Amino acid sequence: MAVLVLGGTGKTGLHLVQQLLARGFQVKAIVRSPEKLPVDVARHSGLTVITAKVLDLTDEAIVEHLTGCTAVISCLGHEGNYQGMCGKASQFLVSDVLRRVCRAVAEAQSPVKVILMSTGLYTKPDSAEDVRVRNSCGQRALLCLLSSCLPPHNDNMRAAEFLRTELMDKGIEWCGVRPELLIDGEVSQYELHENLVCSIFSAGQTTRANVAHFMCELVQEPSMWQKWNKKFPLIYNAA
Ligand SMILES: NC(=O)c1ccc[n+]([C@@H]2O[C@H](COP(=O)([O-])OP(=O)(O)OC[C@H]3O[C@@H](n4cnc5c(N)ncnc54)[C@H](OP(=O)(O)O)[C@@H]3O)[C@@H](O)[C@H]2O)c1
Repeated sequence: MAVLVLGGTGKTGLHLVQQLLARGFQVKAIVRSPEKLPVDVARHSGLTVITAKVLDLTDEAIVEHLTGCTAVISCLGHEGNYQGMCGKASQFLVSDVLRRVCRAVAEAQSPVKVILMSTGLYTKPDSAEDVRVRNSCGQRALLCLLSSCLPPHNDNMRAAEFLRTELMDKGIEWCGVRPELLIDGEVSQYELHENLVCSIFSAGQTTRANVAHFMCELVQEPSMWQKWNKKFPLIYNAA
């Protein structure tokens, strides 16, 4: 079983790569900075590192990298500097990469699950519960502010909407994992919810390790996938 990971040098992506390897998966990681991988991970026999920016790869190359993979997981995120947040090249990094990868998934020889690290700031417009939880002036004002001041926020919204609206008739299975507030820490008990349960102002915390753990479960456990396929689960550390 192989999994293609994007953003494997990131804070969550590295947890994911480590946990997948520990579970015995073969991992292919497309990274632009392989030197950021810890030595024990980089030298792991189960890991294949592909040094490239995904958007620089041809469709054929992405299809080739998907060969033998049962899932592709994106933990990509924007760098915290001006170029990463507002630069033209990375403005739509997450959504553009997702679109390219899904095009390749549609061409792949066998089914590939698509898992996106999304965000709890995403409100599903077709969920009465999500809309109800976000239905306050303060939250709507904050989301407007984020849209106008924080390009990565728009990119994350665009990626989530792509999953929700554009994959339905393509037969591609997907899941958008929505953590709210990411923190560092070990794998611990966590809860999953189908719809938003708290306002932006009381966002729930989740360790990156737990996000990675849940993503591994989605790939490994058929019952998990059956439950969360084509959904946007919220993940919170258990109280
Ligand atoms: N912070 C929160 O509370 C929160 C909550 C919910 C969701 N999220 C979302 O979760 C995602 C992952 O978060 P994280 O903290 O794990 O991310 P992170 O540590 O910033 O990692 C981002 C990854 O994306 C890669 N990357 C950045 N710019 C790139 C580019 N132009 N081309 C190719 N690769 C690029 C980085 O590669 P390099 O290592 O080479 O830089 C790194 O592997 C983000 O989309 C974030 O918005 C965050």
